Amino acid sequence: MQSSVIREILKLADGHQVLSLAGGLPAAAAFPAEALAEATQRALQRADRRALQYGASEGITELRDWVVQQIGTQGRRITREQVLITTGSQQALDLLGKVLLQPGRRLGVEQPSYLGALQAFQVFEPEFVSLASDALGVCADGLAGCLSYLIPNYQNPTGLCLPEARRQEIADRLLQSGGSVIEDDPYGELWFNSPPPPSLAARCPEQVVYLGSFSKVLAPGLRLGYMVLPDLSCAATRELAAKLIQAKQASDLRTSTLSQSVALELIRSGWDWGGHLDAVRGLYRQRRDQMAQALRQELPSGWEWRVPDGGMFFWLQGPIGLDTQALLPAAVQAGVAFVPGPRSIRRTRHGQGPRCDCLS
Ligand SMILES: Cc1ncc(COP(=O)(O)O)c(C=O)c1O
Repeated sequence: MQSSVIREILKLADGHQVLSLAGGLPAAAAFPAEALAEATQRALQRADRRALQYGASEGITELRDWVVQQIGTQGRRITREQVLITTGSQQALDLLGKVLLQPGRRLGVEQPSYLGALQAFQVFEPEFVSLASDALGVCADGLAGCLSYLIPNYQNPTGLCLPEARRQEIADRLLQSGGSVIEDDPYGELWFNSPPPPSLAARCPEQVVYLGSFSKVLAPGLRLGYMVLPDLSCAATRELAAKLIQAKQASDLRTSTLSQSVALELIRSGWDWGGHLDAVRGLYRQRRDQMAQALRQELPSGWEWRVPDGGMFFWLQGPIGLDTQALLPAAVQAGVAFVPGPRSIRRTRHGQGPRCDCLS
């Protein structure tokens, strides 16, 4: 295992009055702290003391039902049995790695991609295959017959949101030629002008494992996420579900019942969830605008970037030949941390050839 570049940077930035632009650290101002405090009290006052007890490995039933309802608002019908509550979406990545990966198994990844996922997968020694991409984001080529990890909404770290047509191309390719996708979506709710197009999971529900997270919309300290499996009518998916539960039990038995109960109390209390999301979007939109303005004003020529339509990331490309890792210590000294260009995809090649590598 490699030590995480992000972790090392965050260590540098921690407590040293460094403005950290590294990692997907949500703004503390976006946390609904008071509402969470009240929800915690209510959760603890329940007569059955459920919030302090062990619970089902799959997660609290009502929270899973809430996920079913949320996914329903995105136009996809699922059942509670398809939902597994996880300890952040990071745990979902680890569990999927445990169950699906093995040394040498091909795993398509965007380049660049979320370092935390690459790190989680790297333990299982897959053969990372970098997927071709263009200005719109990842291309459909290379997805056929292979397992891939994608972040279609406001990608970490490029900030790109895959447009409708590209999603449909990807879905068509998957439907025609097989292949499966782990669709990681922690940023989908953080749109600034209009919601992103429907997920890949909504387009080819049999071939996509969808991951959601409460980290960016409530608070990462809760460590709450969820996984939505393909329809369980297929025997291979039922087997996948059983293995994931087994892996989850071995890992932490179940996600904190206290965190789950607090989130549930909050969601069910009549609290204005939609209003909260609007406020969070507004906050990040404002910060995005400030950042865009600062970049325009401060960066010398030779730098390029796109202003993101949602999420938390600006992806900057420096002049050719510039070593961004070498810039980092000086930046931290000057009070700003950032993530240098990724170097953690070790074995990459542009993959095309279809191979049957699905969710089993
Ligand atoms: C793309 C992506 N996936 C997963 C995670 C992990 O999120 P969680 O807090 O839900 O574990 C992050 C965190 O920044 C992320 O950017």
